[in-house]
Amino acid sequence: MNEAFRRVYGTRPDGIWAAPGRVNLIGEHTDYNDGFALPIAIPQTTLLAARRREDGRLRLHSSQVDGPVVDLAVTDLEPGAVTTWAAYPTGVVWALREAGHRVGGADLHFDSTVPTGAGLSSSAALECAVAFAYDDLYGLGLGRPRLALLAQRAENAFAGVPCGALDQMAVACCTVGAALHLDIRAGTQEQVPFAPEARGLRLLVIDTRVKHDLGDGAYAALRAGCEHASALLGLAALRDLSPADLPWAGRTLPARLLPLVRHIVTENARVTEAVSHLRAGRVEELGPILTAGHASLRDDYRISCAETDLAVEAALGAGALGARMTGGGFGGSVIALVGRDRAEAVGAAVSGAFRSAGYQEPHLFSVAPAAGARRIA
Ligand code: GLA
Repeated sequence: MNEAFRRVYGTRPDGIWAAPGRVNLIGEHTDYNDGFALPIAIPQTTLLAARRREDGRLRLHSSQVDGPVVDLAVTDLEPGAVTTWAAYPTGVVWALREAGHRVGGADLHFDSTVPTGAGLSSSAALECAVAFAYDDLYGLGLGRPRLALLAQRAENAFAGVPCGALDQMAVACCTVGAALHLDIRAGTQEQVPFAPEARGLRLLVIDTRVKHDLGDGAYAALRAGCEHASALLGLAALRDLSPADLPWAGRTLPARLLPLVRHIVTENARVTEAVSHLRAGRVEELGPILTAGHASLRDDYRISCAETDLAVEAALGAGALGARMTGGGFGGSVIALVGRDRAEAVGAAVSGAFRSAGYQEPHLFSVAPAAGARRIA
């Protein structure tokens, strides 16, 4: 990274920061309903070499993007001013300033192994890398959850994606060997040990390479549907509903909103159930919960697609203990919990099914819970 930074900016960086991608084990679309989620950080990481500048210029460059250095004055930053990939990192500087922090410019060079558009939070990784670098370079001392919320603010208000806090919290707060149990309303988190390898299991990620784009309106429409349902029910958020309330919700709501509500309510219950299994070390019990979560995303929330459904079916057919689409939906990645001895067969079955269906070859890799964002040099 030092060499790459020098090639772009002609000098040494002040430091290097890392921010991982994430997969969410369970708890999808629950974050903007004040609910629960259970993500892990993955080894795929965005690296950022950064150097503070005193002249108010913010310069950005990425190894993954062709084109010249993006060069802006921090005083010119406002929502809508940047519409490319640079909106995510730039938005963090804007969000810090909006929150009253006296931060100026920097030279930033990114290099990332987090696939983009794969539902693995490449944008949150970009944002958190900048938040953590600025926290150090400008001596802010903000702490992980606060940095995550500033990164979310950047994505909401500057990049225009109305996401919840799941991705940024996962990227900022996850730790090695654990899943992060998030209670979004309470603002609390618990590191729950998650060691599939120790139980002879693997967590396989199947990137279907169907690109998803949360900025295209479908995500916002789902969020609006949930907020509408919760207002009709007289609740602060769908978090306040339990599975026992569903018959009442069914009598009260228009038929088109009920499946959305059912997904959120059952998904929150699945997170709680998953956490109690993990606390007791029963990793394999996660399998049926993942598969039930996928059915809910497919049939109730309706954000799966042919490729993600096929990946889930093929994985289960080859002996996976459970499988589901992870992330925002409309493509992206599937996770499958598989016995170590079945991992190869499951991978081969998924690839074979994709070939037979004429789909692109999926990218397959297994992950173990990795570290959240941090300074590495
Ligand atoms: C995307 C959003 C998150 C969350 C997930 C779905 O990743 O950025 O806030 O809503 O979708 O769980």
